Amino acid sequence: MSIQWFPGHMHLTRQAIAERVKEIDVVIEMLDARLPGSSANPLMQQLTSGRPTLKVLNKQDMADPARTALWLAHYNAQPDTRAIALDASVTAPARALIDACFELAPRRGGMVKPMRVLICGIPNVGKSTLINTLKGKRAAKTGDEAGVTRTEARIALADDFYLYDTPGMLWPRIFVPESGYNLAASGAVGKNAYDEEEVAYELIAKLKTDYPQLMEARYQLGLSPEAWAQTHDDELVEAIGRKRGALAGGGRVNMQKAAELVIADFRALHIGRITLETPEQFARWLKAGKQA
Ligand code: G4P
Repeated sequence: MSIQWFPGHMHLTRQAIAERVKEIDVVIEMLDARLPGSSANPLMQQLTSGRPTLKVLNKQDMADPARTALWLAHYNAQPDTRAIALDASVTAPARALIDACFELAPRRGGMVKPMRVLICGIPNVGKSTLINTLKGKRAAKTGDEAGVTRTEARIALADDFYLYDTPGMLWPRIFVPESGYNLAASGAVGKNAYDEEEVAYELIAKLKTDYPQLMEARYQLGLSPEAWAQTHDDELVEAIGRKRGALAGGGRVNMQKAAELVIADFRALHIGRITLETPEQFARWLKAGKQA
């Protein structure tokens, strides 16, 4: 699947981050809890290697709690890394992030050695929301227009805690097709950058095997979990379309509209709390991608 990115901005961002990282104590990497592996930017690993890293699995309120636990365990087993799950708009858990930074860099703090933290994440992951919550007012503008480079900002959360917003935009680099589909399904990339029907079909193929009960509860097709998993995607899309009135002329189902309904339902949490990848699945995709 081809997705259009903004490589010009990436180059400048890379330089600016490399400069900034030299003076940073902890890096906060924000990930989408529904697709932690795919929403990471591999560039960050290169640029920040050696720095203690806090992985924030954001939008945990939309993600499958069992899979979030798997991802937290996966990241917490890595050296110099801690991971927490958050809903960026909720104040008390967001504050736990400050404690986690002090645990990662215990010698920082106080007026002489303030904590310096760089926060980064791909667009739409919830960075502005989190910064606003931590600040307690509207410090960062949410819903920035895609592709517009923001200027770097230092935000004082306390006298001894400085948060540096990423200079510029950080886009995901898509190593494997599965990551592209998951990013598109989550809404992380603009609508005109991918084929919506293709993305919807990939999503349905995943949900029918991983979350058949949630699919049945939403679409009421009268299918057992086994039947969901075994039924052809086209048949499912047709049945969903018929049920939901996504019809074209002559009583036929508008297959594109029906498939897109499922994406919209997924994003709006109408199907339930879903995580599109486990650490084990993601590792398998990466391995297959490298071999290809
Ligand atoms: P960014 O700075 O990383 O680009 O992301 P931003 O904070 O603008 O958040 C992108 C969208 O994700 C926003 O929704 C925001 O409300 C939502 N969001 C952020 N964190 C969470 C979270 O933990 N849980 C949930 N459920 N949603 C979250 P939007 O529809 O674009 O705007 P809005 O009208 O909701 O503000």
